[in-house]
Amino acid sequence: MDRTTERRTTGEGCPVARLGRLREQGPVVPFDDTPMGPAVLVTRHDDVHAVLLDPRLRSDPAAVPGAGRGIAGVFATLGFPDALAHLGRGLLVRDGEDHARLRRLVSRAFTVRRVRELRPRIEALTDGLLDDIAAAGAAGTSVDLVAALCHPLPIAVICELVGVPEQSREVWRALARLLVAPDPARMPAAAHAVHDQVHELIAARRADPADDLVSALVAVHDDGDRLDADELAVLLFDLVLAGFETTAHVLSRAALVLLTRPEQLAVLRDEPERWPVAVHEIVRTCGAVPMSSPRFAAVDLDVGGTTVPAGSTVVAGLVTANFDPRRHDRPEEFDVTRDPGRGEGHLGFGQGAHYCLGAALARTELEIGLRALVTRFPALRLAEVVEGPADLGFVRADAVEVRVDALPAHHHSAGMGGVGQDVRCDP
Ligand code: HEM
Repeated sequence: MDRTTERRTTGEGCPVARLGRLREQGPVVPFDDTPMGPAVLVTRHDDVHAVLLDPRLRSDPAAVPGAGRGIAGVFATLGFPDALAHLGRGLLVRDGEDHARLRRLVSRAFTVRRVRELRPRIEALTDGLLDDIAAAGAAGTSVDLVAALCHPLPIAVICELVGVPEQSREVWRALARLLVAPDPARMPAAAHAVHDQVHELIAARRADPADDLVSALVAVHDDGDRLDADELAVLLFDLVLAGFETTAHVLSRAALVLLTRPEQLAVLRDEPERWPVAVHEIVRTCGAVPMSSPRFAAVDLDVGGTTVPAGSTVVAGLVTANFDPRRHDRPEEFDVTRDPGRGEGHLGFGQGAHYCLGAALARTELEIGLRALVTRFPALRLAEVVEGPADLGFVRADAVEVRVDALPAHHHSAGMGGVGQDVRCDP
């Protein structure tokens, strides 16, 4: 591996390295610096896997005497209005049958077939964004891959899937930004705007159904099944917000990782059939969700030989697990030829009852978006040589965020085949 690259992505000050140090402190470490209050972080792969499957760890704090506020506490810290607190009662704070019922209903609308049918649409959206990049490059203007591809693609995909009209997307985008880069002063207005849109959308599709997820969810509801108006709103809120930023960050980091590892890119160019497996490696190493949402210990638990007392808030370290040398050989190397073994070989989408509902969609977007980018622009490269995570725009939105804010890149004009004139794209 290129040493400069290694320093950039895993060196001092890099969030992955900081998390790695926590893992080596012990299987369970205090994790107090969070908006949800004091918690413990489970750091190692096998323990993380086990706690995510353990029914004695609940997602709903109301079910555990003495538990903290969890996501409700995070919302309060972010300035989310109390009047909309019901929007915090999504899938990630429900357990058992309460959770299974809601998940079943949404899964009935959000089917594998629907994701599969979306594939040509994702390809078309990607091509459109790449056309804009080509045009900008040809005109000699800047191309920031985050702004030009990695953000707009997942936003367009999830909004099309769900049925959020074009003119409403900015409102969602604003709230999504505030959830990761908080500004409590702006939060109430942003949350109310999304809330109003959710209800308008539901009313519009109820009156005039379309071929989208809102209409399908409304139909589930109207068929006399048990989705009430609040649940419908919560599901839309969950789906759109969960589908936005997560995929955008993995795309951004993956683009960075691929552009700084030409030998890996070469493998994918020579053997494109590796892409689906490479996507597992991308999610393992570019994880956008550093840890699970909070769980609450209903009883005293033993985690890796450490007692976690009943009532504790527990978060599972997905990034620490994905880089755990006890589980992965050379964990900090990005290697598209790595055999993931059984399943995906990582915990980037979680595990168990709350396993990411959008995993298939996210994988499809990652494969189509990244593959099209590097195929269309074979000579694409970063416009800036950057030495540290800070320079690369890694933002520390909370204690452990790992994300890329901007990715200025050059590409040769389309059709130049990697030789000839370099089109410089200044940021
Ligand atoms: C690469 C992108 C993504 C990553 C890394 C990711 C990661 C995760 C993780 C780790 C969880 C489990 C959290 C926990 O157990 O506490 C989760 C849950 C969830 N994700 Fe994703 N996600 C991604 C994309 C998406 C997309 C595109 C959607 C929507 C279409 C989505 C919807 C959800 C939902 C609704 C849940 C809650 C499931 C439940 O509680 O039953 N995610 N995601």
